Amino acid sequence: MPEKAHEKTLAVLGVTAASQVSGLFSELAATAANELGRVDSRDLFEKFRVEWLGRKSGVLTLAADNWLKQAAPELKPAVGQELNKFKRDLESLMAARLAAIESGSDDSAPVRDRVDLSLPGVIRPVGSRHLIRQVFSEIEDIFVSIGFSVVEGPEIETPYYNFEALNIPEFHPVREDMDTFYLELPKGAPGPLLLRTHTSPVQIRTMEKRQPPVRVIVPGKVYRRDNPDATHSFMFHQIEGLAVDSDITFCDFTGTIEYFVKQFFGPSVKTRFRPSYFPFTEPSVEFDVSCIFCGGGGTGAGGGSCGKCKGSGWIELFGAGMVDPAVYGFVNYDPKKVSGFAFGMGMDRLAMLKYGIDDIQVFFQNDVRFLKQFP
Ligand code: DAH
Repeated sequence: MPEKAHEKTLAVLGVTAASQVSGLFSELAATAANELGRVDSRDLFEKFRVEWLGRKSGVLTLAADNWLKQAAPELKPAVGQELNKFKRDLESLMAARLAAIESGSDDSAPVRDRVDLSLPGVIRPVGSRHLIRQVFSEIEDIFVSIGFSVVEGPEIETPYYNFEALNIPEFHPVREDMDTFYLELPKGAPGPLLLRTHTSPVQIRTMEKRQPPVRVIVPGKVYRRDNPDATHSFMFHQIEGLAVDSDITFCDFTGTIEYFVKQFFGPSVKTRFRPSYFPFTEPSVEFDVSCIFCGGGGTGAGGGSCGKCKGSGWIELFGAGMVDPAVYGFVNYDPKKVSGFAFGMGMDRLAMLKYGIDDIQVFFQNDVRFLKQFP
C-alpha cells in the first residue's frame, strides 16, 4: 500500500473498480494490526488510539474524508461497507489489546518478549541453616529423647516475669548483672517492659499454664547491655531447662545434666559441680566440663598451660540448681508436694566450644565464608 494512502483520494490511488476496494482495506488492516502488536503499555495504546481513531486527523477520519466522501457514486457502497467493517474489526482488536495490557498477560506480545521455556533456569544457591540453629536442634534432640518438650516465650517481658517471679525483687543485687534494655513506651501505656535478659521467665510462664509433671526446654534470644567483644554480645542465645514433678531429686538433676553433656561433647568428658548462687534455685551450682581442648590436663599443645581453660583443666559451662521453693509460690504450686531442677545454658558459648570458634561476633556478621563452613 502506498504510504499514507488514506491521505489521498481513490482516484489518485488509481482505485476505480469496486473489486480493488477490499484489497485497499485489507492492507490498511494489516498495517493497523502490525502497529497494534507493538503496543504494550497504556501510553502507547493511547497514542495508537489517537493516531487511528482521532476525530480530527485519525487514519479513519482521513479515510472517510478522502476515500468515502470523494468516491465515485458507483464505488461508495463498497467503500462504506469496508470502512464500517474495518472500524468494527479495529475496535475489537484494540479492546483485546487493552485487556491484555491491563491484566499483564500479554499473549500477543512480540516473540522476543515471550518467556522461552527451553532456556536454562536461574540457579539460586541454596543456603544452609545457621550454626546457632543447628546447635539448637542438636540440643533439642538430646532433651526431647529423654522426655522434654520445647516451648518458647516472648522476647519482650515484664519485670514481673523477668525478675520478681524468679525471686529477684527490686533492688536485689543480681539485677545489676542484668542492667538492661527497657522499652520506651507511649505515655499512659501499661509498663514497664524490657527485652528479656534470660530465658528463665519462660519457667514461670510454663508453670502458670501447666500442672506438674513439667519437663521443658526453652531455646531463645536474650539481651543484655554488654559491649561486644570476643565473648560478649548485646544479644545472644540461651536454652533454659525446667523439670518439676512430685519426686525429682538432686540425683535426677545431675544425671540429666551429665547425660546431656556426654551426648553433646562426647562420652569421654568429665563433669563437676561447684556451689554457686541464683535467686531462683537452691542449692545452685555452676556446672563445669573437663576442658575439651587439652583433655582436662591443663597443658596446651605447645607444652605451656592450655589457653582455653587457663591451665585449670575445667571449662565453666552453665548455671543450674534445684528450683527454689519460693518460686513455686509465684505459680501456685505446692512447694511441699513438688520439687524440680532448672538450668540455663549460653548457646553461643556451647557452640563456640564444640566447634572451636573463638569469637562470638562471627555468629552475627553473616559472612558466608564463615557460614559455609557449617553446611
Ligand atoms: N538465668 C541465668 C542467667 O542467665 C542462668 C540460669 C542459672 C538459669 C541457673 C537457670 C538456673 O535456670 O537454674 O544467668
